[in-house]
Amino acid sequence: MDVFDLMKARHSVRRFTDRPLEAEAVAALGAEIDACNKESGLHIQLVTDEPEAFQAGKPTYGSFGGCRNYLALVGPKGRDEAFGYYGERVVLRAQELGINSCWVALTYKKGKAKAEVGPGEKLHMVIALGYGETQGVEHKSKSIADVSDCKDGDPDWYRLGIEAALLAPTAINQQKFRFERNGDKVKARPGFGVCVKTDLGIAKYHFELGSGKDRSVWA
Ligand SMILES: Cc1cc2nc3c(=O)[nH]c(=O)nc-3n(C[C@H](O)[C@H](O)[C@H](O)COP(=O)(O)O)c2cc1C
Repeated sequence: MDVFDLMKARHSVRRFTDRPLEAEAVAALGAEIDACNKESGLHIQLVTDEPEAFQAGKPTYGSFGGCRNYLALVGPKGRDEAFGYYGERVVLRAQELGINSCWVALTYKKGKAKAEVGPGEKLHMVIALGYGETQGVEHKSKSIADVSDCKDGDPDWYRLGIEAALLAPTAINQQKFRFERNGDKVKARPGFGVCVKTDLGIAKYHFELGSGKDRSVWA
């Protein structure tokens, strides 16, 4: 699937059907998670058929329905950007497999999450997964000029990278990141707010996909 089609198809989904994750999809996600953990030193885990962390209370903003599967983003402290980068890599693999998702920092029951947390590790946040009742909706977006120094005449790869970053999920849709280019190197910085380092990692993963560059693009 074209990477832009994939990123455009992904929206946060908070209500899921009771259809269990297909065995083949679980195996494919497991392979992606293993590759991410190996590369990053994180301890991301797929938790299936465990509804407790999302048991419905009173419906409020950010409340979930029917969520029984999630990614537990576990790993050492101080790796917020890496959680964003690798978590989004698994999210887009899930999207490719027809599985919907939503990043969740706050609106779940952290104490009920079934994750293995080793010595020196913490549960950073989770990502809800499942087959959605709907495919979600497009988020409102800042413009390229709001988040970067990109101007007319700049290389296509740079503009495409920023367009891709603007398709990324961010906490409360804040899009608090900034990209600046110096030749073939790009500096990406977080703004101020909640979860901004995780958001930055997510946006950087999108930037790489959209621009076609690898990690060596970062200044
Ligand atoms: C780091 C992070 C934390 C988030 N935490 C929550 C949350 O606690 N509850 C929730 O309902 N949505 C949460 N979201 C989902 C965002 O609200 C959503 O990504 C944003 O509104 C953009 O919408 P989209 O994902 O459909 O593009 C979070 C997203 C990110 C990236």
